[in-house]
Amino acid sequence: MRGSSSDASDLVIKLLDVSVELEGKQVLKDVSLELGRGVHVILGANGSGKTTLLKTIAGLIKPASGKVLVFGREVSTLSRREASRLIGYCWQNPLYGFFEETVEREVRFILENLGVSGEWSFVSTLGVEELMDRSPFSLSGGEAKRVSIASVIVADQPVLLLDEPFEGLDYRGVKSLVGLVERFRLHGKTVLLATHNPLIADKLKPDTYTILHEGMVKAHGSWPVSDEILEQLDITPRRWWLAVTA
Ligand SMILES: Nc1ncnc2c1ncn2[C@@H]1O[C@H](COP(=O)(O)OP(=O)(O)O)[C@@H](O)[C@H]1O
Ligand SMILES: [Mg+2]
Repeated sequence: MRGSSSDASDLVIKLLDVSVELEGKQVLKDVSLELGRGVHVILGANGSGKTTLLKTIAGLIKPASGKVLVFGREVSTLSRREASRLIGYCWQNPLYGFFEETVEREVRFILENLGVSGEWSFVSTLGVEELMDRSPFSLSGGEAKRVSIASVIVADQPVLLLDEPFEGLDYRGVKSLVGLVERFRLHGKTVLLATHNPLIADKLKPDTYTILHEGMVKAHGSWPVSDEILEQLDITPRRWWLAVTA
């Protein structure tokens, strides 16, 4: 299967029977997953565990049981700095990641922290340069989303976890981000992206899809995923998006 590695040297992200409990509630249940370089989408209804899964891979949530390996290294054993150099996690809610006075400082923060020069062309692709003097807290929803993504991916990590990155983006923003994901692929990165919209996912030409349902992996395979499977697992199918937008 494309993107799901048969060759161990290709394997970038591996989860082995990962369970996560938050405030006494089991949010992920025995999740096992193997992903190689390329673009992978994760789909699932609200509350199915997408954000929790991405945060767990990033090392921001510790599993109750099971293992998360990135490039063969157990994420829970990495220092925060080591993990951040390998893995960029872009927040679903952009405001959660902001704490600086200007957008420029927000974008530079990770570079200073990790001691890397960064890849500024990723920032300009997202149209963030014109916002550099603004307060991140004064931005529109779509601007905040672009800045939030830019302030992580500028560090050029080999693994990128994008949590509903298209939420709130306008046509130009969506096109820029689709182009950027294609560049990530060409750079040999591993991108795991949560989305609700299979039509946008189609544009990304992903290698694999994974569907979460009530914290469990219910379907996994090579893209595309059929509308029938989407609908069965409470995800808006393409035909609904097309019918409402026609
Ligand atoms: N800190 C938390 N404490 C308790 N429950 C949580 C916490 N974070 C998320 N949850 C619950 O875990 C489930 C999965 O949440 P989440 O991973 O955010 O889902 P998704 O991103 O797929 O919408 C939801 O039922 C959510 O309410
Ligand atoms: Mg989420």
